[in-house]
Amino acid sequence: MQVELWRQPELESLYPILCSIEGACRDINRLMRRISTDNLDGYQSSKGGEVGSRSVNIQGEDQKKLDVIANRIMKTALCCSGKISIVASEEEDEPCLCSSVTDNAAFTGDYAAIFDPLDGSSNIDSGLPTGTIFGVYNTPSYGSKDPQAVVRQKGNNLVVAGYCLYSASCHIVITMRTGLHCFTLDDVTGEFYLTKSNIRIPRSGPIYSFNDANADQWPSAVRYFLDDFKKERVSQREAIDNKKPSARYMGALVADIHNIIHYGGIFGYPGTTKSPNGKIRLLYEANPISLILEEAGGMSSNGFGRILDMPVSSVHLRTPVFLGSVEEVKALERYFEFHTGQKPPPPPSTPPASAASA
Ligand code: F6P
Repeated sequence: MQVELWRQPELESLYPILCSIEGACRDINRLMRRISTDNLDGYQSSKGGEVGSRSVNIQGEDQKKLDVIANRIMKTALCCSGKISIVASEEEDEPCLCSSVTDNAAFTGDYAAIFDPLDGSSNIDSGLPTGTIFGVYNTPSYGSKDPQAVVRQKGNNLVVAGYCLYSASCHIVITMRTGLHCFTLDDVTGEFYLTKSNIRIPRSGPIYSFNDANADQWPSAVRYFLDDFKKERVSQREAIDNKKPSARYMGALVADIHNIIHYGGIFGYPGTTKSPNGKIRLLYEANPISLILEEAGGMSSNGFGRILDMPVSSVHLRTPVFLGSVEEVKALERYFEFHTGQKPPPPPSTPPASAASA
């Protein structure tokens, strides 16, 4: 991945971190391809628990075997880069100091890394796409060295954000705040080669990615928006590409976002009546993915404002997310403004049947 760095000598200090991410993604990708042959599917059993009992993470979610392995791979690789002093993983209760990971005091540096080691892990057993999401912050040279406080920075402070997609191909899509670039793993040489630079998301697109099994619990703004989107009433999109709206949902944020960046459109995981903040974690998922979208000329919102400006009050905080092409995300914000009574109405719409009870 050094090609991008050769262009920017001022980013040279990030090189060991990028190499460690590259190595970790290569290792996780290899495991993903050997799930069935090496018996890597299924749940992680809990330590010291009853036979057959499952290990759960801080969110109370059952952990897959590969969640645990991928977490260890990412953590070790990042700490061994020698540039990182703090790591925070979605799979762990709390951020920790790299010096405590292997009792090696030399594991320190000017950066902190956050990551979701295996995003979309419910896809593991069926062989569908999954991913790793990561981000790197500067550790402030002043103030607290408390790992919690250091990683609870706004997404806008990220110096690196990226994801690795494990699918038909393995791609690392990464930004160092100078555009978005894609590196693809060559299975023969084992190297990641730059395959797309300065990626741009279409200004508007036909794809909508929502788990609409939750639709009856969504805010009415989202239901009206999607109904109008399907009827092509939301933007001037047809004038841009003449493509009909189309649903795509893979249940793995990385895979759905990769698709949206390619074709344009909108990914949403709204809050529900049961979980008003939705499901996506601000620190580990929403922030890095938001920076990626903005670097590609797209937009990210929680319905009311920019995700990258949200305060991170807790490391496991969740947030509603709407991510994608500028036209669709801006339109969605207009629907929120209207339906919460804050702004003038969006373009006219007929109520969807499901919104009658809103
Ligand atoms: O947050 C984890 C995650 O697996 C995301 O990758 C994905 O977008 C979402 O959850 C899928 O959730 P659901 O199965 O509720 O649609």
